[in-house]
Order: sequence, then C-alpha cells, then structure tokens
Amino acid sequence: MKHVIAIYPGTFDPPTNGHLDLIQRGSAIFDELVISILRNPEKETTLFSLAERRDMLTALTRPFDNVRIDTFDGLLVAHATRVGANALLRGIRAISDYEYELQMALMNRKLNPGLETVFMMPAEAYSYVSSRLVKQIVQLGGSVNGLIPELVEERLHAKFHTARRRSDRARAAKGKKA
Ligand code: PNS
Repeated sequence: MKHVIAIYPGTFDPPTNGHLDLIQRGSAIFDELVISILRNPEKETTLFSLAERRDMLTALTRPFDNVRIDTFDGLLVAHATRVGANALLRGIRAISDYEYELQMALMNRKLNPGLETVFMMPAEAYSYVSSRLVKQIVQLGGSVNGLIPELVEERLHAKFHTARRRSDRARAAKGKKA
C-alpha cells in the first residue's frame, strides 16, 4: 500500500473551526498530514506572527498523531517536494472558492504533475467562516462563539482588546496628571 503524505497549506491567520474540521478529515484519510503555514503572504501583513500561528496550530492539533506543522515560503510545489508530499489538501466552502482553487490546482499540477490536489468540504456549519471575517468581528466586539477554537478567541481578544484597554488606561492616567 502506498504511504500518502499530504500537505495542507494556508495562511492560518488565525486558524478557525473550518480549518480544524478539514484537518480532522484529512488526518482520517491520509497517512501523514503536514500543515504548511505560509510565512509571508504576498498581499497582506498578518495579524499573528508566524510563531503565534505555529503555536496555535501546534496546540490545536495535539490530538492528531499523524499531523505535524511546518512552514514555507516561495513555491508551494517546491515545499511539497521537500517534505515528500504526494497530495495537497484544500477546502472548498462555496462555489465562490471554486474558481480560485481550480486555477491554483491546475497551475500546481502543471508545475508538479505528481502532486495531486484533493478538495474536501468542511461541515456546513463552517461553510461561511473565514479568518478575515472572524478577525473583523472580534475587533468590532461581535461574537464568534462556535466558529473558532477557544484558544484562538482568547488570543484574538488579547490582540484587539487588551491592547486597547492598555492604551485607554495610559490615556486616562495622562489625563489625570494634566
Ligand atoms: O490561506 P490561503 O490564503 O487560502 O492560502 C493560500 C496559499 C498559501 C495556498 C497560496 O497562497 C500559495 O500556495 N502560496 C505559495 C506561492 C505559490 O506556490 N504560488 C503558486 C500557486 S498556484
């Protein structure tokens, strides 16, 4: 029987329950699953540093003994070759994901025909969850209960609200002195 190593690449800024759902599904069908965190996304700066994203994913995937975390920069197919992967896992939530994912899958196939992209659908409950929306909602004080792991929620609150409370307190202290 062939030993299938799959990579699951992404920015994971931050990881959501949708990502975890996919990790669980991937872990059940692949022999090894390597979660590959993109170090420096091209277009955006990340809210969480690479070390923070790595730390969250390490804690969240502790229950899966065939899952490990890695990081990469540059071409995904080169990273796949380095880790000896023969499959690439990606999630599709809705039709809107499909065009982008199809283009990436075909381009990656052109670059490395030996790397097979496998698409999986997360549970319906997470079909509308994205890292981008989750960050925005927590920043604006809304509830993301059930959409991200508790650990991630705590870290998001610490990023947005602890920093703000600290600067509010500093401003208040300055005001008192004046
Ligand atoms: O979390 P995301 O934004 O869905 O992940 C996108 C990712 C990391 C899979 C994609 O940006 C990527 O593969 N980047 C590496 C650069 C690369 O290989 N580009 C060509 C892809 S066809």
